[in-house]
Amino acid sequence: MYYSDEVVEEVRAGNDIVDVIGSYIRLQKKGANYMGLCPFHGEKTPSFSVSGSRQMYHCFGCGTGGNVFTFLMEYENFTFPEAVKQLADRAGIKLPEEEYTPEARKRADRRMRLLDINKEAAKFYYVRLKNDAGKAAYNYFKRRGLSDETITRFGLGYSDKSGGLYQYLKAKGYEDEILKDSGLFTFDEKKGVYDKFWNRAMFPIMDGNSRVIGFGGRVMGEGEPKYLNSPETMIFDKSRNLYALNYARQSRESYFLLCEGYMDVISLHQAGFANAVASLGTAFTGLQANLIARYVKEVYITYDSDGAGQKAALRAIPILRAAGLAAKVVDMKPYKDPDEFIKALGPEEYKKRLQTARNSFYFEIDLLKQEYDFSDPEQKTRFFRETAKKLLQFSDELERRTYTEAVAKEYQISFTMLNRLVEQYGSAEMPGEVQKETEYRERKRKKPEEGYYTSQKLLLTWLTTEPALFQKVKGLVTAEDFTDGFYYEAAKEVFEQYEKEGKVTPARILNRYETKEEQTKAAELFQTTLLGDLGETQKAKAFAETVRKVRQNSIEMRMGRAAETGDIEAMQKAVTEQASLDRALAKAGL
Ligand code: CTP
Ligand code: MN
Repeated sequence: MYYSDEVVEEVRAGNDIVDVIGSYIRLQKKGANYMGLCPFHGEKTPSFSVSGSRQMYHCFGCGTGGNVFTFLMEYENFTFPEAVKQLADRAGIKLPEEEYTPEARKRADRRMRLLDINKEAAKFYYVRLKNDAGKAAYNYFKRRGLSDETITRFGLGYSDKSGGLYQYLKAKGYEDEILKDSGLFTFDEKKGVYDKFWNRAMFPIMDGNSRVIGFGGRVMGEGEPKYLNSPETMIFDKSRNLYALNYARQSRESYFLLCEGYMDVISLHQAGFANAVASLGTAFTGLQANLIARYVKEVYITYDSDGAGQKAALRAIPILRAAGLAAKVVDMKPYKDPDEFIKALGPEEYKKRLQTARNSFYFEIDLLKQEYDFSDPEQKTRFFRETAKKLLQFSDELERRTYTEAVAKEYQISFTMLNRLVEQYGSAEMPGEVQKETEYRERKRKKPEEGYYTSQKLLLTWLTTEPALFQKVKGLVTAEDFTDGFYYEAAKEVFEQYEKEGKVTPARILNRYETKEEQTKAAELFQTTLLGDLGETQKAKAFAETVRKVRQNSIEMRMGRAAETGDIEAMQKAVTEQASLDRALAKAGL
């Protein structure tokens, strides 16, 4: 973890969840809790509940929940460390500085100065745009339909014909030595130093935290190159940043729009699509896909509609898929790109195109089909062979079947035929190792059965909601018995808290998890009172059954591991535990 457990807990305890959430949405006291309209799904009657005593929230409508960190991560799309920072500020808690080696300190300083330089440059260009000298650039943006508000929001600027950035920064005290590394100047032995961007409409490029890290500069009108970009520097890595991510990450949509160009992004944002991003004048990368996957699960590719754009989309699809993102492709024909589309037909029509966007797999198959002449039986056969191979990328059987059916229907081939082809390639031509590897992983993941995980979850829920039960399992169950990594973490925290304090602070358990998904999952542990509806005898029976399952699974897992590693001692211990399990349960009155 980035911050120590103590610090995280101090920050959490220092921010009352009712106050924090109350500053975002209207809350009304209802009994012991506060209720409001859930900000995470549309609703007209409040089902979003905030508990002051538990310091957690829960929506009865959409099921989401968590502690004060989870809320900021969900609402602001913050990462865990970002949420910690924000709440530390709010509570006036000073976070410990990171420990730096002298080398790292120097690098960090340099990065800071480069960020300062880029920020100064952005201001410089922005001011120029608003001056007389910048009239042409300002008119250029206006001609392209941008409002003053949009120009300000994206910090657009102008690098004028007389240069001047170099002198400006020198006067501010920056040395050549660091200016050289900023990528904003050309140092020429004969001609001296001059600004790299000259008479261009300027697009500052910001990172996810709205810090300027580089620039794109466009010629106003015709000319080569159309866009000139900052070179890669210590702070500007094109492969791991996305244009407008700083805004898109705050949008409420569950997907991003992936564009090719700066102007596309800006037009889309101006038209109300605040979830548009673009790569930075280079091909889309896996790092960018991973970055996106931190915020959303789906991407709509809205590249140029020409051949080059389609090719680029074909390249981006597997990259998105590898990052676990679902992809769709938006068709903008007969317009070239989103910018031109919006200008011609407006946001409503664009929305319709989003609704009819093609699933990325069908998009791939459509394009593949264009390479084959269907009137030639041989080519047609080859097309189906290729399609069958592609269908193999779905490792989930049901998914593969569904796609096979759909493709068979759309391209008029019998399902049986196509499916047989798929199976043929699946057993023969598929790279064997890849296949074996996934099978292996799936087998590993499925063991132990789902039922055991459910028992582990149940047991945690009961222990945390009915503290009296803790006494019953003392000495019988430990955190180590939770064989699922996720529940193990929660169990460790629960047991520690009981041992040290004799009670459990639910919101604190969530501190252990850094992603929204995990925190939400952990929050679920406190939302069910499954025992409530049962009679006393049934309740005791259900509880005993759960404890047994958890223990049983723990013993089996250890036996399996001991057998694999040939650890005789561990094996004997597990066997003994197994033999005395009934007795131990009976002794605990279970
Ligand atoms: N690009 C670049 N260098 C170029 C041309 C393009 O870096 N010489 C990058 C820019 O990031 C640009 C994107 O590729 O935004 C898309 O280029 P293109 O489709 O040619 O331009 P448009 O986005 O349509 O730009 P505009 O609308 O301003 O003509
Ligand atoms: Mn364009």
